[in-house]
Amino acid sequence: MKPRDRLRIAMQKSGRLTEPALDMLTRCGLTFRQSRDKLFCFGEGEPVDLLLVRDDDIPGLIAQGVCDLGIVGRNVLNEFQLTAGLETEPLAELRSLGFGRCRLSIAVPQELDYQEPRQLEGRRIATSYPGLLGEWLRTQGVSAGVVTLTGSVEIAPKLGTADAICDLVQSGGTLVANQLREADVLLESEAVLAGPLTLPVDERGDMLELLLKRLDGVIQVRESRLLLLQTSRHTLEAVTRLLPGGPQPTLLAVAGQPDQLMLQALCAGEVSWRQLEEIKKAGAREMFVLPVEKMLA
Ligand code: PRP
Ligand code: ZN
Repeated sequence: MKPRDRLRIAMQKSGRLTEPALDMLTRCGLTFRQSRDKLFCFGEGEPVDLLLVRDDDIPGLIAQGVCDLGIVGRNVLNEFQLTAGLETEPLAELRSLGFGRCRLSIAVPQELDYQEPRQLEGRRIATSYPGLLGEWLRTQGVSAGVVTLTGSVEIAPKLGTADAICDLVQSGGTLVANQLREADVLLESEAVLAGPLTLPVDERGDMLELLLKRLDGVIQVRESRLLLLQTSRHTLEAVTRLLPGGPQPTLLAVAGQPDQLMLQALCAGEVSWRQLEEIKKAGAREMFVLPVEKMLA
């Protein structure tokens, strides 16, 4: 097989991760021409294409070398690592992407008074994550029956095929609708960038490295704000003390006003009205909070 010279990223075809994943790639400067069957999207500017698939298939596609990278839930990636055969190439979580946050949890019928994992001893637990559940049960020293289902796990207790479930919880709406209650958390999950343990050393590898750098910039600035303000020299110390966390601020002289300074600070997170009001009380004026669009360190 001729080696591919374009990078290929697998992502969920339709689901919770699709929109935010596409948005993130767009912020990295990637644009795609969608093909008619919408399985393959050709990248226009950069040599990076998309493969839109079922999320559960993503780790396997990377392991087989069909795709170089994948955007997938940590839950799916970790489950693959635990259940894939030994001959399968292990994968790496290259970056955590900060969206699609959810938990893999044990849930029990609402009327059950759950206190500790030991209560699951000898019970049947339905899940689509037999690897992660099995590992957790082992570390808890509990032996329980694992009933593997590929979907509609939440109705298993009502159908009598299981006593509890182990499934993803985001809003908790699905659990409430099925008279279930979250009892224990196995894994905090979010979307991650999955890839091979060792990056290829060729053109694709170069593109991959470039993409990772852009991604780091996107992730970093997503929460960053640039704070601009004016202060007189004698209130500078009080103002600086109140600044939210971040690197050292930059000070600029104000033309014609030797006592005045312009301060510029990169803040790691949102700057609230309350924080602004406090800083103003300390002597700042003309304050601006700006979103940061791109950053290249
Ligand atoms: C998960 C999970 C629940 C639901 C929980 O399925 O299996 O059905 O989300 O979310 P909630 O707490 O907000 O109600 P998902 O839609 O991610 O699909 P999949 O697991 O079948 O890929
Ligand atoms: Zn799925």
